Amino acid sequence: MTTVNRQLILRARPKGLIASGDLQLAESPLPELKGGQALARVKYLSIDPTMRVWMAGDSYLPAVVIGEVMRAFGFAEIVESRHPDYKKGDRVTGFTGLQDYIVLDASASQSFQKVPKIPFVSDTVFLGLLGINGLTAFFGMEIAQPKKDETLVVSAAAGATGSIVGQIGKIRGCRVVGIAGTDDKCNWLTKDLGFDAAINYKHPDWKAKLAAAVPNGIDIDFENVGGEIMNTVLGLMNLHGRVALCGLISGYTTEDRGVASLETVLVKRLRVEGFILLDHVSRFMDAATQLGQWKMFGKIKDRETIVEGLEKAPDAINMLFTGGNTGKLIVKV
Ligand SMILES: NC(=O)c1ccc[n+]([C@@H]2O[C@H](COP(=O)([O-])OP(=O)(O)OC[C@H]3O[C@@H](n4cnc5c(N)ncnc54)[C@H](OP(=O)(O)O)[C@@H]3O)[C@@H](O)[C@H]2O)c1
Repeated sequence: MTTVNRQLILRARPKGLIASGDLQLAESPLPELKGGQALARVKYLSIDPTMRVWMAGDSYLPAVVIGEVMRAFGFAEIVESRHPDYKKGDRVTGFTGLQDYIVLDASASQSFQKVPKIPFVSDTVFLGLLGINGLTAFFGMEIAQPKKDETLVVSAAAGATGSIVGQIGKIRGCRVVGIAGTDDKCNWLTKDLGFDAAINYKHPDWKAKLAAAVPNGIDIDFENVGGEIMNTVLGLMNLHGRVALCGLISGYTTEDRGVASLETVLVKRLRVEGFILLDHVSRFMDAATQLGQWKMFGKIKDRETIVEGLEKAPDAINMLFTGGNTGKLIVKV
């Protein structure tokens, strides 16, 4: 077995997209395992927009410290164990960081979740549909409280979270309209996932098309983007509409998060609720069970974009901001 651990170290806080040198590939020796520790090989990394937020400064989690391994959620397999809770071959998800190996110590049971091997189900499902994104969609839709025949609009709709949100909206009986950045993504949403309409926000007349796609106004905005997209959606909302404020990706690579029009919130008596997935840890298992059932019965489809190689992780993070992914973006280490 190798004795080297490749790691991506945060060297500088990016300005805009991640530039070469912001994250640097380094090698360190694998430590000798002590009693109470286990060594896990990282197989897949979840690539999430919030990683760019963690690189920038303190937010709902402290910023990643310059000189440390870049924080990331991942899927890993135990390759050696002197830990009472883990044996060789066990599989876990948790904050592995952007690296080949992670040492799990005594406290790991609180921060790493063991995951089962399910026949015919890929390991990567624990990062997407049954991981960060399916769970985010699930709890965000609890906040949105969708009712039959209401109109739901979701932005970044062809991404990992948005694509699940829209399908939950269909399960709840809503009219679902997605906003995405290419015609191919829009076709996937309407032809494969059952969205009622999908609008490419890069077309010059997208605002008129969005207005035409919501003849009864918008009851729910599941907001992933912020900025001009969010303000356009808010302008089409019905009185007493609900906004599940999940993310503001249009502002993550700039200093400007884009301010939502509070006047629209006031005049339309909207209820806006932000949420962070980590607040719902105690109910992850219930939510994953429901999401798994929906997948098993064909009510939810998921899709992945896989990038190969740990060294490609910085480029993969940038893909989230240039729209290079459809569905869940994963690095296969
Ligand atoms: N609150 C929470 O706990 C939580 C948890 C997970 C994720 N989130 C948030 O959910 C959102 C989606 O995350 P995800 O992991 O599912 O990523 P994702 O949607 O799979 O990927 C991001 C997508 O956003 C779109 N995008 C990027 N920049 C944009 C811009 N300036 N304007 C419009 N669209 C843009 C791109 O698609 P296009 O081709 O369509 O532009 C891109 O593919 C993010 O805001 C993220 O921070 C929040």
